[in-house]
Amino acid sequence: MPHLDFDDEPLADQLGRPLHDLRVSVTDRCNFRCQYCMPREVFGPGFAFLPRDQVLSFEEIARLARIFHDLGVRKLRLTGGEPTLRAQLPTLVALLKEIEGLELTLTTNGTLLKSIAQPLADAGLDRITVSLDSLDDPVFRRMNDMDFPVAMVLEGIEAAARAGLGPVKVNAVVRRGVNDHTLIELARHFRGTGQILRFIEFMDVGSTNGWRLDEVVPASELARRIDAEFPLEPLDPNYTGEVAQRYRYRDGAGEIGFITSVTQPFCATCTRARISADGKLYTCLFAGDGSDLRAALRSGTDDDALRTQIAQVWRAREDRYSEIRSEDTAGLRKVEMSYIGG
Ligand code: GTP
Ligand code: 5AD
Ligand code: SF4
Ligand code: SF4
Repeated sequence: MPHLDFDDEPLADQLGRPLHDLRVSVTDRCNFRCQYCMPREVFGPGFAFLPRDQVLSFEEIARLARIFHDLGVRKLRLTGGEPTLRAQLPTLVALLKEIEGLELTLTTNGTLLKSIAQPLADAGLDRITVSLDSLDDPVFRRMNDMDFPVAMVLEGIEAAARAGLGPVKVNAVVRRGVNDHTLIELARHFRGTGQILRFIEFMDVGSTNGWRLDEVVPASELARRIDAEFPLEPLDPNYTGEVAQRYRYRDGAGEIGFITSVTQPFCATCTRARISADGKLYTCLFAGDGSDLRAALRSGTDDDALRTQIAQVWRAREDRYSEIRSEDTAGLRKVEMSYIGG
């Protein structure tokens, strides 16, 4: 590892949190228009997505990944938008695979996995997470607002499992009155498959998704509802800072999780940095501004100076948005999830 010439202290932020995970958005585009993420009233035909030359190249992403690895990152997740829309994505995975000791994961809506899962696995992707909010076709089509059928995502999940990218984690965002009447079916479907379903509380990410607290179904209520049908018992976290609370089915049918970012925030152990598709570094999902790494990359800055810039940003970090969320903070100007990555 190159020496850190600013000092030898382990890198930690203002609240003592190390830098361990990096989430890299490879495109701000998506083939879905989930109302809780990219409502079509905002992300319609007139929306100005990033022009190609403003998006980081694979070489730029790989260079940053190496530097973040030097600074302590051991898990890298590719996100979007929809990351599989980025042309030649397996080539990026292969470049990142050259960094030893870096776990590579990807979050996707699953629609393109049937053809790309195997090439991604061959290139060295370790694991995959697929979003699927309901098995009820009309509900799912309404939620993605592009009329994509459930079957296409299920085929994608199968393809990922066949390619050795499992256990596949399946994320379902829950909105009261929208899909919360279909959750038992989701649990029933994934029980016993080895795939791990996780319910996510609807969050006030960005400024366009019309978030309302009364649409959040608290994870405690979700767990009670699932437990009434399929008895559950809690499991210990796999690692400190894991975002999902884990449970196992008492009958041995595997694991299920709940991501409680609204009702039980996990900022105290948040070790995640995010890079937007155009190369800005954000230290919180709910941030308003980021630090421009692309400008540094494209102006000839050397690795040591980049390392120093990133380390300074991380050392200054005080973010704990979910712990201080209120009616007032929900209206703050925040970056969109499709731009910064989930
Ligand atoms: P693994 O444990 O490696 O599988 O990753 P993970 O549990 O972090 O999974 P994933 O990255 O899929 O995160 C699941 C979801 O949790 C995301 O899509 C977000 O909705 C939410 N989430 C993840 N990280 C954060 C975070 O830092 N803050 C908040 N508020 N929510 C987050
Ligand atoms: N609240 C909770 N989860 C969200 N996601 C996107 N927008 C939101 C939101 N407002 C989830 C997606 C996907 C991951 C990238 O983030 O469903 O699982
Ligand atoms: Fe696309 Fe995922 Fe956002 Fe839905 S949640 S619009 S699939 S990036
Ligand atoms: Fe981390 Fe910000 Fe999410 Fe808190 S709200 S867990 S600090 S990303």
